[in-house]
Amino acid sequence: THRQIPGEKGLDHTLDLLAEGFHFVPNRRDHLQSNIFQTRVMGKKAICLSGQEAARVFYDNRFFKRKGAAPKRILKTLFGQNGVQGMDGEDHKHRKRMFLSLMTPDRLQELQTITQRLWRQKAEEWERAERVILFEEAEEIMCRAACEWAGVPLPEDEVKQRTTEFSRMIDAFGGTGARHKEGKRARERSEKWIQQVIKQVRSRELQPPPYTAAYLIAMHTERNGRKMDTATAAVELINVLRPIVAIGRFIMFGALALHEHPDVEEKLRRTHGEYARMFVQEVRRYYPFAPFTGAVVRKDFLWNGYQLKKGTLVIMDIYGTNHHPDLWEDPEMFRPERFRDWKGHPFSFIPQGGSDHYTGHRCAGEWITVMLMKTSMEFLTGQITYQVPAQDLRYDMARMPTLLNSGFVIENVKVI
Ligand code: HEM
Repeated sequence: THRQIPGEKGLDHTLDLLAEGFHFVPNRRDHLQSNIFQTRVMGKKAICLSGQEAARVFYDNRFFKRKGAAPKRILKTLFGQNGVQGMDGEDHKHRKRMFLSLMTPDRLQELQTITQRLWRQKAEEWERAERVILFEEAEEIMCRAACEWAGVPLPEDEVKQRTTEFSRMIDAFGGTGARHKEGKRARERSEKWIQQVIKQVRSRELQPPPYTAAYLIAMHTERNGRKMDTATAAVELINVLRPIVAIGRFIMFGALALHEHPDVEEKLRRTHGEYARMFVQEVRRYYPFAPFTGAVVRKDFLWNGYQLKKGTLVIMDIYGTNHHPDLWEDPEMFRPERFRDWKGHPFSFIPQGGSDHYTGHRCAGEWITVMLMKTSMEFLTGQITYQVPAQDLRYDMARMPTLLNSGFVIENVKVI
């Protein structure tokens, strides 16, 4: 006999999900005192998992697959069709290696150099501006850096538009109505643009260096020996560009953390390097970005006496695991020092997914994210001074993804 999976009453909890956002899973985990529970969202039964042991099983490819896990509305906005996120088995591993081949130390170094130059240039413009919305500026810099690094030409008069498109794809995740529609339109336009880039690389009209994402993705051969179709190649190149723009959100939260914890800022200024690493990890743990990720049960199996049935949608709580009271001391405190002797754990600290980058679905861009956040925080603390005027620094935990109401305004910027 199996244990009964705790569940909540009610026909459907989509409205609760929209009302509670990042807290939806943690609230129920807490209330039911269980790292596994059953609910219904978007007309579908779903099992929610939270914590390190749950993550361990969630990332076990024997029990879960990704095909069919993402709802259509996410494929039309955030992910795109036929991308790596929905692949399984050997096909997934092969596609994933394409992404990971971009992440060599010298390629990361190059992205860092590009980004440092762009921050510096922007800061000179800011000196002349009355006020600056850091979130918007960070997204634009990330967009410029991503395209330059990836070998994608970005004409100056398209910078704002392309940045906005990437931003809207990200922002559409938990959006309904206008937010969803804008995300969909943004994806359509962005794919059209990047499909042209893929075609031009293949026809040699465009010749980016052979180590760039534009070249490697356009020329990548699948396990069947063929190149990806143009649409899929564009989706995958966007899977490199868009999430680099997403780092703008973490930079905004990082700036907020500096503002709210002057002692932290002081340590960052004095010690660079090691403290910056801890600081960046804590920003990724503490602030809300990716709320959860989903998979489908591959075959019936038992976990801790609970039966999970083939075909069931399972939601892995990312935000809640990073704040899980069994895993983190004072999880609601922002404390970079908790990462001082942190050796890393593949299933407890999962802001960008858990398990392994090569065999699982863990984020291919985790190293880029950490590196660019460090670079950007060192820039903000070491290369400019600025003031933070009174503004609305709250963020809505029901919104997925969320951002500061003000976008983090700074003024009186001076380049040191
Ligand atoms: C997957 C978060 C930056 C490329 C993921 C996943 C999450 C995530 C939660 C899914 C994990 C899962 O489903 O198990 C983030 C966050 C970022 C970020 C919060 C920073 C703001 C990046 C960057 C890149 C990138 C910079 C590339 C340059 C990818 C790819 C996948 C992925 C290709 C799919 C991996 C797969 O399905 O095997 N990311 N990511 N991400 N990320 Fe990121």
